[in-house]
Amino acid sequence: MILLMMLMGFGLFKGSYLYMKLDANISKISLIRTMNDGQIYKPQELGFDFAFGVSSELDPSIGHFTVKQIGHYETDQFDINGKKVMTKIERNLRLDKCHDKHFNFTDQKEVMLKGISNYLCAIDDDYQLQGYFYQQNFEFVEIKLWKCRNSTESTVICRDKQKIDEYFEKETFNFAYINTYFDFMDYDKDSFIKKYIDDSFLFELEAEKIKKLNFYIQLQEAETQDSYVQFGQIESYKFHQISNERTYDDGYSDSEGYIAVVYIRFDMKYDLYSRKIYSLLEYLGDMGGLYRSLLSVGLIIVGQIIRRMFFSDIMHKIYQIRTKSIRDDEDSKIDKKESKNKKSQEKYDLTQEEINVKNIENRKSQFKQTLK
Ligand SMILES: *[C@@H]1O[C@H](CO)[C@@H](O)[C@H](O)[C@H]1NC(C)=O
Ligand SMILES: *[C@@H]1O[C@H](CO)[C@@H](O)[C@H](O)[C@H]1NC(C)=O
Ligand SMILES: *[C@@H]1O[C@H](CO)[C@@H](O)[C@H](O)[C@H]1NC(C)=O
Repeated sequence: MILLMMLMGFGLFKGSYLYMKLDANISKISLIRTMNDGQIYKPQELGFDFAFGVSSELDPSIGHFTVKQIGHYETDQFDINGKKVMTKIERNLRLDKCHDKHFNFTDQKEVMLKGISNYLCAIDDDYQLQGYFYQQNFEFVEIKLWKCRNSTESTVICRDKQKIDEYFEKETFNFAYINTYFDFMDYDKDSFIKKYIDDSFLFELEAEKIKKLNFYIQLQEAETQDSYVQFGQIESYKFHQISNERTYDDGYSDSEGYIAVVYIRFDMKYDLYSRKIYSLLEYLGDMGGLYRSLLSVGLIIVGQIIRRMFFSDIMHKIYQIRTKSIRDDEDSKIDKKESKNKKSQEKYDLTQEEINVKNIENRKSQFKQTLK
């Protein structure tokens, strides 16, 4: 009965785990992508987007932003040092204020509230990332903030240099982007990779420094086994995530002309997340295991009980036989004399013991004699 209740309790307990998917195994392994295969990564297709700006709209007579798709490609020619000649290709991406449509995030209200709708967004969405610096093909996106410079090429007449510097000294460069995380408690296919706006990144600008940010986008992988009945079927997902950012400062020079730069690059590192829930088969296995062990415990207990019952039965019978035989011997005597009977029995036992002791002493002396 108790065993049955234990079994039921365990069954309910584990059953609730099974049903609520509480006992999932979760792991995250960090890996490195070799990138020799020239894999091209378009994070915007996975929901990545970015926006940037200074606190208010930037007047062209003070400075301006550019966003470029840049590619370095190895050619077949060699230079005088025997190194392969690289060609560099640049393409400007058009920019516009994000408003409520260019920053690709589902909740545009939040975009408004965070002030991102006033930032700039790239409206050409065909950028891509590939490789890293020492590879044949290296593609990345570059965002630059330039100081205004008088030039014959543009009609913009800049403000005084001093005014421009004063302006930037007080300003921050803000960079917002869409980041993700794996929500382990969420089992809905469409939403367990959660997106959020990461606007934690900003530079305090300085007129005589270049603030640089290397911004690495990971291509993450996830494998889930979320169904109750598992025969090893795995569902795979890919999503983007940003966990690596590196900043550094450089001295500003007028020949370069920019005071902030962000390089958006393909991260070599990535993580493989996996989640496997407690499944029906494991549940049955656990129940079966418990059932068997309870059964064997039960058998032992029952065996003990049976043995005890058996012995007490035998003892009982022996006692009965004895008393019976004593009675048979002296059936003429009355109950009073039974006590005497017991005493004589005791005496008999005692004499028996004395005999034993004597026997031992005899043996001892014999032993001593043999020793001599
Ligand atoms: C917006 O993000 C979704 C994924 O969340 C993606 O499928 C879509 O291509 C993106 N749109 C643009 C214009 O990048
Ligand atoms: C640009 O030209 C204007 C007018 O010629 C001048 O006042 C201003 O100081 C110049 N600015 C810079 C940064 O050279
Ligand atoms: C979780 O992992 C442990 C150790 O690898 C394993 O014994 C257990 O069966 C796993 N549980 C599930 C639900 O897969």
